Amino acid sequence: MKYDFLKGRDFLKLLDFTGEEIEKLVDLAAKLKDKKKRGKKHEYLKGKNVALIFEKTSTRTRCSFEVAARDLGMGTTYLDPSGSQIGKKESIADTARVLSSMYDGIEYRGFGQSIVEELAEYSAVPVWNGLTDEFHPTQILADFLTIKEKFGRLSGINLVYFGDARYNMGNSLMVGAAKVGMNFTACAPKKYFPDENLVKTCEQIAKNSGGKITFSEDPLKAAAGADVIYTDVWVSMGEPLSVWEERVNDLSGYQVNKKIMDAANGKAIFMHCLPSFHDLKTSIGKEMGEKFGRTEMEVTDEVFNGEKSVVFDEAENRMHTIKAVMLATL
Ligand code: CP
Ligand code: NVA
Repeated sequence: MKYDFLKGRDFLKLLDFTGEEIEKLVDLAAKLKDKKKRGKKHEYLKGKNVALIFEKTSTRTRCSFEVAARDLGMGTTYLDPSGSQIGKKESIADTARVLSSMYDGIEYRGFGQSIVEELAEYSAVPVWNGLTDEFHPTQILADFLTIKEKFGRLSGINLVYFGDARYNMGNSLMVGAAKVGMNFTACAPKKYFPDENLVKTCEQIAKNSGGKITFSEDPLKAAAGADVIYTDVWVSMGEPLSVWEERVNDLSGYQVNKKIMDAANGKAIFMHCLPSFHDLKTSIGKEMGEKFGRTEMEVTDEVFNGEKSVVFDEAENRMHTIKAVMLATL
């Protein structure tokens, strides 16, 4: 396999890639994971450097980029939410020109998708999306690697997403599923379904891949036949704390619990991009839990820690898939 099969390309959203390219990235990640496990060196990008811009906080994505870059022989610079001039004293376009004169690749996590798209437009080196409000494409690669490890394939897998499907995770899973021929269902009250235009685009893509996009407001019906039950936090980074009340009211009935898992296929797995509010062991989880009289939000602790949960495999796979993205594009 040629490793740099996407040489020079940005990685901004899955809509920009074919289903074959997405699966090739997943397969490359599996190969790199195997090398890492066997202790085989893979410093294919020795001497290169990458800049990691985070306008929102991160554990997995930042660590994945840093460890993956080091494994590939590269150096990294981390720019934290307060530690750079971006957007405050320097435009995105100027930042792109400055950083691409020093670095071989740039990761960006922040707010609107338009920001990472603009960064890429003015950058001479590949730009990778580490999460925006609209899309989280590297997360989907990790999810797909995990699904492939568990089921041996992506095509034909039934994935049901519970919760706020209008945001980065719902959008990206829908696009990814459509591209690789998976069946995607969003289960939530109607107002949390993804944007109509994006749905239309995905339906069109799914026609060619053999995937199917469906929507449901009935949790037990939606879970029936599912291979993968997926959820994400009800309130995302960058949203005000004041939306918690509305989300708890609207989405409580869509919590992933044992009943939902029991309604799914016998071999179904539970997935979550993390971080998750499944107990009161976080400051926000505790504050909101006490405020709304709950100990768990989008998923019960029982399911999160249960035998069907693969959330920590998913988290590990962030690193292997991000490594594949850097290797393929540099
Ligand atoms: N899943 C994910 O992106 O996690 P972080 O916010 O910790 O990077
Ligand atoms: N929807 C979540 C995903 C975190 C990985 C957020 O944007 O905060």
